[in-house]
Amino acid sequence: MEYIKVSQPLVTQTEVAAVGEVLLSGAYVSGQRVAAFEREFASYVGVKHAVALSSGTAALHLSLLALGIGPGDEVIVPSMTFFATATAVLHAGAKPVFADIDENFCLDPQSVETQLTPRTKALIPVHLFGYAADLDALQKLAQTHSLAVVEDCAQAIGTVYGERKVGSIGDAGAYSFFATKNMTTGEGGMLTTNEDALAELARMLRSHGMQGRDDHVVLGYNYRMTEMEAAIGSIQLQKLDNFNQRRRENSHYLYDHIRELSWIRLQSFDPRVIHSFFWCPIIIEEEAIGISTAAVRQQLHEAGIGTRQRYQEPLYRQPMLRENSPYPRRYDVTCPFNGTTARYEDLHFPNAEKFAGRLLGLPNHPGLDRRQLDRVVEVLHSIK
Ligand SMILES: Cc1ncc(COP(=O)(O)O)c(C=O)c1O
Repeated sequence: MEYIKVSQPLVTQTEVAAVGEVLLSGAYVSGQRVAAFEREFASYVGVKHAVALSSGTAALHLSLLALGIGPGDEVIVPSMTFFATATAVLHAGAKPVFADIDENFCLDPQSVETQLTPRTKALIPVHLFGYAADLDALQKLAQTHSLAVVEDCAQAIGTVYGERKVGSIGDAGAYSFFATKNMTTGEGGMLTTNEDALAELARMLRSHGMQGRDDHVVLGYNYRMTEMEAAIGSIQLQKLDNFNQRRRENSHYLYDHIRELSWIRLQSFDPRVIHSFFWCPIIIEEEAIGISTAAVRQQLHEAGIGTRQRYQEPLYRQPMLRENSPYPRRYDVTCPFNGTTARYEDLHFPNAEKFAGRLLGLPNHPGLDRRQLDRVVEVLHSIK
């Protein structure tokens, strides 16, 4: 039986040849391929600057540092996302403050309002699964309260909000090119911004805080992207719109053919957003089908259909943030909540708790054909 994978990097001999060429050239870092990929990516997103980095986490971390966020500051993040959104805040020395998500699994502006304190300095809306957070409302909140906005675009390469690409609307955007993403460089990331000073500082921070060849002017890191990665990135970027179009078509095809199943709830979309469908998400109505989401996933797996099941818990329940974690840490597990100080593990946000663990991502990648999609549909109809 053919196993239909939920995701698959799509590379061809073109990427293989480009990497081979770089390897034989002997020039592996800080060269023309990184510079070219940055120019191409900036132009694609519609921003002045793109800074190529070693990962999406590095892009989030440097965005916060370059915005001057550090100890004593609070940064509001969604309760359901990949954990790196929150750890980037901790790496910057600031405090992640969780807020709830909305019906589209993104940061809920109303919940953000309840979490503001005089120490709040920034928001990180995450464009989860390729959809876009409610940037109109979040940007308005940010303007009213003088907050910076770092868009976490790790899962939303090519997503459009209104007339603009995500990553061009807040103060900075952070992208990931990890292997499963809509385009990949293996590992890799990109920081996008229209602010000259922010880009300049991020460029220094990514390479040992260096200005020029010998002066170390700020405490930096080694967060550079390699020339091999950039060579892959330039090629993948050319394919991205086509990849995303196929993801959209595949996801809409699946949605259209499973709509009548009473135990599946589908995401509903705002016409302001062009979804890039990093995931094709479905919500399992466990009461309607009478089995758990994990059991649904197991049945799909046994029938040869791969799925994703994330995120199993709201982030405030991660073992790392528990008071009794046995591992050493350099941060405080208390968190400001509605004017009181609570432990992260005591927080409750209704949507995060409603959706966590009940979301499955269906196979929708551009490598799938109609026959494979029909099999996904057929197996979903047979679940009991
Ligand atoms: C929402 C989100 N933020 C940040 C990251 C971190 O990106 P990276 O794995 O490239 O460090 C990811 C990665 O999967 C992500 O999904």
